[in-house]
Amino acid sequence: MDGNGRWATKRGLPRINGHEAGTENIRRITIRAGEIGIRYLTLWAFSTENWRRPRDEVDGILRILAEAIARETDELHERGAQLRHIGSLDGLSPELRDAILDSIELTRNNDFIVLTLAFNYGGRAELLQAIRRIVADDVDPNDIDEALVNRYLYTCDIPEPDLIIRTSGEYRTSNFLLWQSAYAEYFFTPVLWPDFGPQELVQAVNEYRHRDRRFGGIKPPVAE
Ligand code: IPE
Ligand code: MG
Repeated sequence: MDGNGRWATKRGLPRINGHEAGTENIRRITIRAGEIGIRYLTLWAFSTENWRRPRDEVDGILRILAEAIARETDELHERGAQLRHIGSLDGLSPELRDAILDSIELTRNNDFIVLTLAFNYGGRAELLQAIRRIVADDVDPNDIDEALVNRYLYTCDIPEPDLIIRTSGEYRTSNFLLWQSAYAEYFFTPVLWPDFGPQELVQAVNEYRHRDRRFGGIKPPVAE
């Protein structure tokens, strides 16, 4: 969800207003995604590298997350969203951690859409924690295959992404779902996240539908 800061700066507002506008956008995108049949939506809100930002911006983002969880959980629950988190909850206050865990628990049986929030998430950090746990579990090296690695990732119970959308005109992955994105399709758009509306989502999905996914294979010949 990139471009919140620039969205605010363009309007002469403090960056934190951009984070507020970006957070407001989550509800409408989640609902539209569910309506068009997307069953898993993962939103990257905060990276393991975002702690490098000025203290007041980080504190503001944490406050906005806490407020959003308090404000949005009930409606998302009523709409049938199942909330999940990937990343590390370390570094968050115990209150925020509990609020996140409570929302996950409340919504665990919902199936309109699985909404995964990547917060304090980094692809390398995810791989490192997987490697550490594989070693700690004394796994026989011969038993390490892709399926086993998948089970040690934060995403162990959600499918690999089909489509990754990057907003705000940046052309890099910035450490997002490194392992899982091997065959993901990418959609890049200059639109800043707070302006990325349901129409842009539908446009991204329509473009995705025309992609030719071969997963390293070749297209089967068309029967005459
Ligand atoms: C995305 O918006 C939200 C976070 C990374 C927390 P940015 O804050 O990265 O916005 P820009 O890139 O400065 O516009
Ligand atoms: Mg950015």
